[in-house]
Amino acid sequence: MNDRALVCDGVDVHLGGVQILRDVTFDVRPGESFGIVGPNGAGKTTILNVITGIVRPTAGTLRYGDTDLLGTAPHRMRGHGIGRSLQSTQYFKDLTALQLVALGRLPNSVAGALSFGAHRRRRRTGGSQPAAEALELLGLADHAERPLGELSSAVQKLVDIARAVVAGTHLLLLDEPTSGVSAQERGMVSDALDRLRGLGRTIVLIDHDPGFVTGNCDRLMAMNFGQVLHVGEPDEVMNNETVKRSYLGEKEERHDGNA
Ligand SMILES: Nc1ncnc2c1ncn2[C@@H]1O[C@H](COP(=O)(O)OP(=O)(O)OP(=O)(O)O)[C@@H](O)[C@H]1O
Ligand SMILES: [Mg+2]
Repeated sequence: MNDRALVCDGVDVHLGGVQILRDVTFDVRPGESFGIVGPNGAGKTTILNVITGIVRPTAGTLRYGDTDLLGTAPHRMRGHGIGRSLQSTQYFKDLTALQLVALGRLPNSVAGALSFGAHRRRRRTGGSQPAAEALELLGLADHAERPLGELSSAVQKLVDIARAVVAGTHLLLLDEPTSGVSAQERGMVSDALDRLRGLGRTIVLIDHDPGFVTGNCDRLMAMNFGQVLHVGEPDEVMNNETVKRSYLGEKEERHDGNA
């Protein structure tokens, strides 16, 4: 049973002399699906980069259960049960689904990376049991031996989520899992998230599709210009006037900029 909460308090981030996050405070409850929404450039991905130790804040605290994440190196995050899906699997098109998921169990070290060639050769003849189980969990068993490049965008995203959860992850960070996924296939991603939530995984989910986040999250945090605008139930957040205005501003900018 996962009883760890993620608690982010007063986090500031500066990059290249610019303040990217300002006093960001939120908490994610154990087993919750927590969505982060906001216009392009709001700072959503930066929050995932802070959680995974890639970006270090200039102020604030961040804890996952008893662990101080700001004192934890990125390659140690998996050991704390934190996993993140990739924004794109484009560099892994030649791997089969099973091989990509098996990568999630390799040691986070240079030796681990170097042993990948041998690992890959071994995998050609048989399946790793945990990787096969992770694929099964997400309803992907039929795709195990197919190269990623032959799979639809939705299935590729799901295979990568399987890679992120295969090593016993209980906090799963997903950055736009439906980007590039057709409207018809978004249901597949929702079903997979349901299964993971049913198993008690905690999910932090960034997505631009209001229907998807509203349907798949217990609570949402809306952001703009690196600041938290509002945290609450999905409908309440999406109907909040400040949040609606932040999206409206983005649409007007896009319209003006791209007309
Ligand atoms: N390494 C960096 N150096 C300088 N500025 C950065 C860096 N990374 C991100 N930024 C800036 O920080 C801001 C927030 O970026 P971030 O990627 O977190 O936004 P986002 O909400 O994920 O946007 P999107 O919806 O487009 O993915 C943007 O203005 C971005 O240009
Ligand atoms: Mg982003």
